[in-house]
Amino acid sequence: MNVDELKKMAAAAAVEYVKDGMVVGLGTGSTASPAIRLIAEQGLKIHGIPTSQVSADLARSLGIPLLSVAEVRRIDLTIDGADEIDPQGNLIKGGGGALLREKVVASITDCEIIIADDSKNVPVLGQFPLPVEVVPFAAPLLIHRLTAFGCVPELRRRGGKTFVTDNGNYILDCAFGKIEQPGALEQELRRLPGVVESGLFVGLAHRIITASEHGIDDREVEGQFLNR
Ligand code: 5RP
Repeated sequence: MNVDELKKMAAAAAVEYVKDGMVVGLGTGSTASPAIRLIAEQGLKIHGIPTSQVSADLARSLGIPLLSVAEVRRIDLTIDGADEIDPQGNLIKGGGGALLREKVVASITDCEIIIADDSKNVPVLGQFPLPVEVVPFAAPLLIHRLTAFGCVPELRRRGGKTFVTDNGNYILDCAFGKIEQPGALEQELRRLPGVVESGLFVGLAHRIITASEHGIDDREVEGQFLNR
């Protein structure tokens, strides 16, 4: 089974939780996209809240009616991907550059379902460079300041140009190696003026669904949640 088939399997398992009438957060990336397609294929009558322009365009092309975050106070369920998942259900997200909107959506979601192939499970976060969204004005300064946090920050570039998020910001990909205390690091990063948000998602995932050659692992995350 190749990785795309595993992603589709995880997406299908998550879509089983979607019911008619729900407001559903639509994640971003190569694992979240099949979930959006399946929601449309199954004719589920939902309203979607996209986490990026790309997901909004995909959902619209499939006829899924959309709402904006400004029009809701709570979201029933969100299906999104991740770049790394630790045993406590903490995540690194933002490989696709949508971390800010993904985190806003997660923060008002009753059931945040994270889907991935099992290569995303790690014992400790940090092998995947942590995406940190910053205002362009402060980017050079923050490269310097973030180095003092023990990482190697790199300004994200795509197609020979600086990558710009849907919010008009830049991303610094920060190679930490190991992040032993994701909650503490998230708070410290937030205190740096010019940092808009980091891709550390702590206490936001309620359910993790991973797919491997052996099938689906669907587990509820235990603990304290910031979005409940
Ligand atoms: C986008 C994300 C994605 O969910 C994450 O990068 C995983 O992507 P993929 O499913 O393509 O591996 O956080 O900002």
